[in-house]
Amino acid sequence: MYFPKFIRKKMGGMFLSQLLMVLFIYSSMAQGIIPKPMNVIEGIGEFNLNAGIPILAKSQDSRKSAELFNDFLEKRHGFRLFITQIPQSGPHIILTSVRGDNPEGYLLDIHFDKIEIKGGEAGIFYGLQSTLQLIEVKDGGLTIPAMRIEDKPEFDYRGLMLDVARHYFPVDQIKKIIDLMAHYKLNRLHWHLTEDQGWRLEIKKYPKLTEISAWRDSTIIGKQYDRELLIYDGKPHGGFYTQDEAREIVRYAAERQIIVIPEIELPGHSSAVLAAYPELGSFPLVNGVPQAGTISGTNEKGEPLDNDLSISVPGFWGVQYNIFGPTDAAFTFLEDVLTEVMDIFPSKYIHIGGDEVPKDHWKTSEIAQKVIKKEKLKDEHELQSYFIRRIEKFLNKNGRNLIGWDEILEGGLAPNATVMSWRGEDGGIAAAKMGHDVIMSPNTHMYFDHYYAEDQTTEPLAIHGFLPLEKVYGYSPRPTALSIEEQKFILGVQGNLWTEYISTNNKLEYFIFPRMLALSEVAWTPGNKKDYGEFSKKRLPKRLAELEKSNVFFRIPEAEVTISRDMATGRHRISIESLVDKSQVYYTVDSYKADPTGMLYTSPFLAPVTRKEHGPLTLRYIIVTPQGRISNEFSQTIK
Ligand code: ACM
Repeated sequence: MYFPKFIRKKMGGMFLSQLLMVLFIYSSMAQGIIPKPMNVIEGIGEFNLNAGIPILAKSQDSRKSAELFNDFLEKRHGFRLFITQIPQSGPHIILTSVRGDNPEGYLLDIHFDKIEIKGGEAGIFYGLQSTLQLIEVKDGGLTIPAMRIEDKPEFDYRGLMLDVARHYFPVDQIKKIIDLMAHYKLNRLHWHLTEDQGWRLEIKKYPKLTEISAWRDSTIIGKQYDRELLIYDGKPHGGFYTQDEAREIVRYAAERQIIVIPEIELPGHSSAVLAAYPELGSFPLVNGVPQAGTISGTNEKGEPLDNDLSISVPGFWGVQYNIFGPTDAAFTFLEDVLTEVMDIFPSKYIHIGGDEVPKDHWKTSEIAQKVIKKEKLKDEHELQSYFIRRIEKFLNKNGRNLIGWDEILEGGLAPNATVMSWRGEDGGIAAAKMGHDVIMSPNTHMYFDHYYAEDQTTEPLAIHGFLPLEKVYGYSPRPTALSIEEQKFILGVQGNLWTEYISTNNKLEYFIFPRMLALSEVAWTPGNKKDYGEFSKKRLPKRLAELEKSNVFFRIPEAEVTISRDMATGRHRISIESLVDKSQVYYTVDSYKADPTGMLYTSPFLAPVTRKEHGPLTLRYIIVTPQGRISNEFSQTIK
């Protein structure tokens, strides 16, 4: 077992019994912080938190973090603390700026008469977030148990990607998600601002992007591939963020230690742009319409090419064929757009997409073929690489770095690019082996738009997949295929929320939560300290109850169900532990529907063992949260 320095110091000259005591305290971890801190030592007693407690904060940044602490306290408990720069003799909270080896690390010391948080700017902010999660309501007052926490993140990049292009979400909703990211110590919002189905950022030089590209006439209903003929809702959808709004999001996030990384998709996923500026595409125009007639041939599978070069903003999903041409006009446009983007977003990284470019269509494009010849490129993959390299050069010249999805490896990686690995881990592994930085967001574990349950009929419509909470939690962002040296190129991990089938705030929250809490621990907590059982049963319940109080429409997870054999009766013994604090469970074992007419679970109960000819019984149950939300109905065969 590793002992931090302050424990090792304390251990000198101890009797064995005292040492065992320290070991016991060290490992009991009764508190419920997510993400789990690196080291915790529980103390004796508690700090009483009330409106008379001052916060001593000397630096400007720590005062800002104290204000945000107060905002949370006020929302949840109805009071704010007085922030001061004058030393205090009575019980108080003190924020001390120190330069540690990790600017996000912090030391949180809670005594009965004082709470001290030491760290850099981000560290103090995170120490305050941990403190908020430790508050207990006791006898009408608020207490915080005494302990010492030494904490720092495992990964520097802890991200969430929000696709606001398939569906637009209002500024307040983005801020709500930012608040929650910060509370769980995520620090990168990857803002997916452009897509085939909509452009969401005001660009002053190209007003048609917000007049035309930001809007679509109609959107398909239901899952695209369920029907041959699509059904449309007939409702216009769209919207965009003004530059002022985008700057406000950047500012709001920065106060909460989050960097916003904008994504401008190129050269694919660009139909919305081309609906407004069709001259930037890969095919010549006649009367403003790209000449689909010039396309012939087959794709790599030998199937005839789809030559629907849509000239309106599409209201259906999938990879679209109308993509930027590798022309001077397109590069001028993109550089102009990126110039405005860089002015709004101070982020060192700019994400340029690069995924799902239908290169078959470049094969049939005279414009593209001309560039391949002129630049002596081997094929369309190298053309994509040429495209990305040219954009990278522009970004680097302006002091920024490029991130792209893993397809940017095809045809040769741009010299300084960071790769975001989404088609599993292969792209990330290849890039790290080449000495490039990598962010892991594999669609096997980090696609939050996938179904939560195997039985899709119990869930709201999702794109596909099956991603239970435990699978998110179990992800390790350092592939074992990489050596220790190569693993150093893994900057971190990100969850992605695509929104083809997500059009409401509630649904957005449902798909993110509680997955984001599992992600937070994947990103922050050292792998050897992670334990799903302890996370889900000991710490998650409190946090979910807290999310409900913050009006977050999280998915109510399945309970932990244990079915064992009762020795005395020979029957099945069933226990059902909800993962939401103070919730109620109603169940049936007769295989019929569970609702509040069923049995209210209070303690483990017995169920009959059926004969073979009866077949097994099914346990069905629902969970009702403290505020009355009802879960999906869950079921499990009693075996
Ligand atoms: C992606 O999911 N196309 C990055």
